[in-house]
Amino acid sequence: MIRLGVLASGSGTNLQAILDACAAHRIDAEVAVVVSNVPGAGALERARHAGVAAEVVPSKGAPDREAYDLGLVERLRTHRVDLVCLAGYMRLVTPAFLRAFGPTPATRGCPRVLNIHPGLLPAFPGLHAHRQCLAYGARFTGCTVHFVDEGTDTGPIVIQAVVPVLPEDTEETLAARVLAEEHRLYPQAIHWFAQGRLSLDGRRVRIDGVRPAEAAAIANPQVD
Ligand code: GRF
Repeated sequence: MIRLGVLASGSGTNLQAILDACAAHRIDAEVAVVVSNVPGAGALERARHAGVAAEVVPSKGAPDREAYDLGLVERLRTHRVDLVCLAGYMRLVTPAFLRAFGPTPATRGCPRVLNIHPGLLPAFPGLHAHRQCLAYGARFTGCTVHFVDEGTDTGPIVIQAVVPVLPEDTEETLAARVLAEEHRLYPQAIHWFAQGRLSLDGRRVRIDGVRPAEAAAIANPQVD
């Protein structure tokens, strides 16, 4: 059973999906700690409700981003975290953070930081992915679970789900449909990581025992 550290700045619905999947033993993991940079974040309340340690590391007062991240690393290490999951975490992590959670022999080349992005990367990275998607006029969007590297949403992709864009969609309606897929996808990716089934080959993430067509079907069960 691996120990997760979840970083969240907002309401924490992805955190909730992870907590629920752990509680139902759908993933071989437990959430060891939830850390937020935002004192009133809903994610903290969800953690407490689940009996999980909830900590605030306020960004005010940290001399720079690296010092802030080293403070985070210290908190995560205290809770013996094996994998860090960014879940609506609204800060970019620094190289110092990524070095602290780099690959180990057990992770077979995979870094130990995952993120979920509400878009089909590499399209529409960064903030306001749904706004970018609607402004562009894309017919499809979705969500992506990826390992984190030093860029903005540029790390190796684990799994993606596709969501059609409807003519009447607003940012809010699109976000809601994508979010439902996020809640399905993130626990799945964490489960594969926890089972030691992920490995990195260049930029490509391999999933032991899952053929590419199967992975696509798991990600997109609505498509025949
Ligand atoms: C999600 O759409 C996630 O992909 C993005 O921020 C949102 C967070 O939502 N990075 P929540 O806090 O998990 O509800």
